[in-house]
Amino acid sequence: MKIMVVGGGGREHAIIKKIRENKNVTEIFALPGNGGMAKDAVLVDIAATDIEKIVKFAVENKIDYAVVAPDDPLVLGCVDALEEKGIPCFGPRKNAAIIEGSKVFSKDLMKKYGIPTASYEVFSNAEKALEYVESCPVPTVVKADGLALGKGVIIAMTREEAKNAVVSIMKDKQFGKSGDSIVIEEFLTGPEVSVLSFTDGNTVVPMVSSMDHKRAGDNDTGLNTGGMGTIAPNPYYTKSVADECMEKIFLPTIKAMKQEGRTFKGCLYFGLMLTPNGPKVIEYNCRFGDPETQVVLPLLESDLLTVMQAVTNETLSECEVKFADKNACCVIMASEGYPVKYEKGYEITIPEELDKNVFVAGARLEGNKLLTNGGRVLGVTTVKDTLAKAIEASYEAVSKIHFDNAYYRKDIGQKALNCKEA
Ligand code: AMP
Ligand code: GLY
Repeated sequence: MKIMVVGGGGREHAIIKKIRENKNVTEIFALPGNGGMAKDAVLVDIAATDIEKIVKFAVENKIDYAVVAPDDPLVLGCVDALEEKGIPCFGPRKNAAIIEGSKVFSKDLMKKYGIPTASYEVFSNAEKALEYVESCPVPTVVKADGLALGKGVIIAMTREEAKNAVVSIMKDKQFGKSGDSIVIEEFLTGPEVSVLSFTDGNTVVPMVSSMDHKRAGDNDTGLNTGGMGTIAPNPYYTKSVADECMEKIFLPTIKAMKQEGRTFKGCLYFGLMLTPNGPKVIEYNCRFGDPETQVVLPLLESDLLTVMQAVTNETLSECEVKFADKNACCVIMASEGYPVKYEKGYEITIPEELDKNVFVAGARLEGNKLLTNGGRVLGVTTVKDTLAKAIEASYEAVSKIHFDNAYYRKDIGQKALNCKEA
């Protein structure tokens, strides 16, 4: 089978490595991939958002199955375009990807179907929004409606910050058209849990839970990033919390999407906060999370491609999806200065025995040399019997991987270790 994976980060590397385990797979193409994946996939220089070229490539190369991993092509309708040419895909169609593509849509969906989430107001007029923040409770959370590279959420601790957020999103158009509408919502507190799930629109199969570490600095200080590390499973996500989420959030969401004529097929990501009033949805993503995927897929014991095909064929209820009863830790090695300003072009050295643990996100090949080419450079994942051992082994591996100006958090997993349920 010839497989095509659209995207080019650590998540895609993790997906590609897992798909390669299937014996029927003869070739995997990564569009565009990155230099660090060259051992695992054929790199094709087509941008993940260039839908026309992606479809043309898939048709010309007789691709048997396509995985569309990032949010942008999904929201742009990449799956619809591929399916029109008869290419089976993993990923939601455009009308379902809106669950991530529009926060106004997802909030209104949750309200309509009684799915627990922060209370909120929607504004498409800046003056009305400014008037509202004059008297709303603070802290409050201001969110641009559309995709904003994960940066469209501002936690405003004061009224002044809330006003500035409204002005920068709606008037200064910091995130372009994504800020034509905004959501202003209640500030929630509690541990955060990421739950990725497989769903074919009828059945939903949650994967092992995980915990992201979004801030750049140790002890959750500094700027928000794309994610500096993950652990799985998340100890806060106990069996009883999982049962409650299935009943009140996962199943109702799948049913709601179907009811709306927007059947969701693919990986639906539930960003949850375990508040004193029960689990609530912080956000939906229409795709695998990154770096969550880098701890979740190494724990998957079932064949990923088989599960993905069951999603496509709507036979997920008959498919076994099994996760190892172990723990995984992923530490992201970034370029010093990320997420603001950083240098690129430093040589990366990875001892061969660690190849299997490394998912490369921001690197390019120059001859035989692998050079840094992004903020988040790579993720190092280790799977062990206990969380403490997984953390230790990941940091040990990190110490053996080298590039100049490397930066990583030293405390990935500490919060989970301190959780009394752990
Ligand atoms: P998002 O881009 O939607 O994942 O939001 C980024 C981060 O902002 C989340 O991971 C939360 O830590 C935080 N956040 C988003 N919404 C809220 C909320 N209503 N209350 C508190 N924190 C929030
Ligand atoms: N790690 C969060 C995300 O993928 O959006």
